[in-house]
Amino acid sequence: MKKYGKTSWKLIIAATGALVLFYTIPSFAKDGATVYKTVCRVCHGTGVMGAPKHGDKAGWADRISKGIATLEKNAIEGFKGKKGMMPAKGGRSSLSNDEVKAAVAYMIDAVK
Ligand code: HEC
Repeated sequence: MKKYGKTSWKLIIAATGALVLFYTIPSFAKDGATVYKTVCRVCHGTGVMGAPKHGDKAGWADRISKGIATLEKNAIEGFKGKKGMMPAKGGRSSLSNDEVKAAVAYMIDAVK
C-alpha cells in the first residue's frame, strides 16, 4: 500500500472531482431531451406501467386533447389515470417545473 500511496491519492482526488462534476452538472437547467432521457424514458420509452410511449401517436392523442397546460400540470404534480400512475416530476423531485415542462414538450413534439 505504501508504494502506491501517492497514486492512490491521485486516484481518489480524480474520482472525487469526477463525482463532484457528475452531481453539479445536473443542477443546471436541463433541456427537454436530456430530462426525457435521464428521467422519463425509463417508463415512457417502453410504456412501463401503462405510460404513453414516446412517439406513439395513438397513445398521446387523447391526452394532448386535454391541453398542454393540463399535461404539464399532471407531469409536475403527478397523475393517476386509468392506465397507471404518473409520479410527480417522474419521481425526480429535484427537477424544476420548467425542466418537466421541457420534457413534456419534447415528448409531445415526437407525436405531432
Ligand atoms: C415511473 C414511471 C414514469 C416515469 C419515470 C414518468 N412517467 Fe409520465 N406517466 C407514467 C404513467 C404510467 C402515465 C399514464 C397514467 C395514466 O394515464 O393512467 C404517465 C403519464 C404522463 C403524462 C400524461 C398525463 C395526462 O394527463 O394524461 C405526461 C405528460 C407525462 N407522463 C410526462 C412525464 C414526464 C415529463 C416525465 C419525466 C420528467 C415522466 N412522465 C416520467 C409513468 C411515468
